[in-house]
Amino acid sequence: MTISVLFVCLGNICRSPMAEAIFRKMAEDAGLADGFEIDSAGTHAYHVGEPPHPGTQAALYMRGIDTTGMISRELEVYDVRHFDYLVAMDGDNRRHIEALYRQFGGVGRIVNLLAYADPAVSKGITDVPDPFFTGFFEYTYELIESGCAGLLDTIRREHGL
Ligand code: 4NP
Repeated sequence: MTISVLFVCLGNICRSPMAEAIFRKMAEDAGLADGFEIDSAGTHAYHVGEPPHPGTQAALYMRGIDTTGMISRELEVYDVRHFDYLVAMDGDNRRHIEALYRQFGGVGRIVNLLAYADPAVSKGITDVPDPFFTGFFEYTYELIESGCAGLLDTIRREHGL
């Protein structure tokens, strides 16, 4: 059985591609890559067809994670009907996912990434601040890494992996 996970942000160039790449690396490192389908999408089409933001590329590159071939795409109806986990970076993303989900009949679970982060890292915040506006790509990496680690642990528990 394949478990499908879609990370969602606004533009699909900063936060959700970072989460996709980090989660894929964690799944690979755990020897679980074959059991997952991992992707990301944006709620808006502003950057469709573009690679990840240079700040996201740099944060990943420093950890040996390659972003070659990653291209921004827009969230679509298919996604809510297909993915087992729809992972929002913030409350706005979540509301967009929920609207599609209600209208077109979703199947998976809608979750907030930071619900899985270590509270010592997230310090109580529930939205990943947007580095497109803040410029803080390293802080974004720390938050997303912690959320991805917690999410992978939870999925492993839930599915006995
Ligand atoms: P992301 O960041 O949602 O983390 O990919 C953004 C990228 C682009 C824009 C906003 C946020 N934008 O307004 O173009």
